[in-house]
Amino acid sequence: MKSVIDILDLSVEELDDMIKTAIDISAHPDRYADRCRGKKLATLFFEPSTRTRLSFEAAMYELGGNVIGFSEANSSSASKGESVADTAKIVSCYADIIAMRHPKEGAPYVAAINASIPVINAGDGGHHHPTQTLADLLTVYRERGRLNDLTIGIVGDLKYGRTVHSLINAMARYNGNKFVLVSPPELKLPDYVKNDVGDKAEFIETSDLMEYMDKFDILYMTRIQRERFADRDEYNRLKDSYILTPDKLTTAKKDMRILHPLPRVNEISVKVDDDDRACYFKQALNGKLMRMALILHLLELNDGKKFPAIKGESGYVCKNPTCITSTEQELENAFKKGKDGVYRCIYCDKRAD
Ligand code: NCD
Repeated sequence: MKSVIDILDLSVEELDDMIKTAIDISAHPDRYADRCRGKKLATLFFEPSTRTRLSFEAAMYELGGNVIGFSEANSSSASKGESVADTAKIVSCYADIIAMRHPKEGAPYVAAINASIPVINAGDGGHHHPTQTLADLLTVYRERGRLNDLTIGIVGDLKYGRTVHSLINAMARYNGNKFVLVSPPELKLPDYVKNDVGDKAEFIETSDLMEYMDKFDILYMTRIQRERFADRDEYNRLKDSYILTPDKLTTAKKDMRILHPLPRVNEISVKVDDDDRACYFKQALNGKLMRMALILHLLELNDGKKFPAIKGESGYVCKNPTCITSTEQELENAFKKGKDGVYRCIYCDKRAD
């Protein structure tokens, strides 16, 4: 069974094929209008969403399928204390594929190893968001004609921004990409993301948005993730770290493209929206096309076998308060050794210490 919990669950060939399918869907929507007739997508959203949930639902409807689900934890049995594992087993009786968003890191993975249908991670805490990356990849490909040899500036909350983690893991697999990571020191990219990438890509870190503005092919803006901060004062201090305005774009390349997973708070002025380089609204449309391609791909591959559990070693307890093991006491703590020799939790990737 194929589930997509991490963007690394998809090979580069699969990503390239999905991009081709998405472009074909866009050109010939009628050819796809019945492809999921009789199939059901369950959207299990334990956290707020506009684009991801609605684009998943629109994707399934445009494939001729149906949708069931919930858009907040309070309207599901999670509010009565039902575990993610049990929820996944139950929904497997009613649907053909699951898209799950959850505030706890590792929750969609727990769903995947317990479900008998494919599970798609629609965002888990500050960890991964692989389907936003699919939207990002199609946008870069359509706008720049390639996914390699690009200088990509990624700006904002690189610590909690799950879209950033998945994007870096995906783009690092295409040759010649360079990442300029722009964030306040407090919101730097977690080391587990760099560990996954290894020496496949070059990273430059800075806190100055303007330092490399003239070098970027892609400028990926993100919001500071208010809901992930334990300390409200720290959020207030950092929330306006970067605000993109038209005057900041004067040194940027004419063919640079500005992406943002959205929602924006105030990190991109609305005055930038009229700039030809702004493509965040097209990106949202691309998200629906890639989710259609992903649903088709996963339903075709469904062989009825379980998604494989990661083999980990016991002996440590995960101390991350946003790990799924913090609320689901019956989950066994397990850790795996990374390329850098550090043990990390198999659910949330936080270091064992
Ligand atoms: C992102 C998310 O949920 O992580 N939104 C989205 O899915 N497009 C980005 C964000 O919330 O900042």
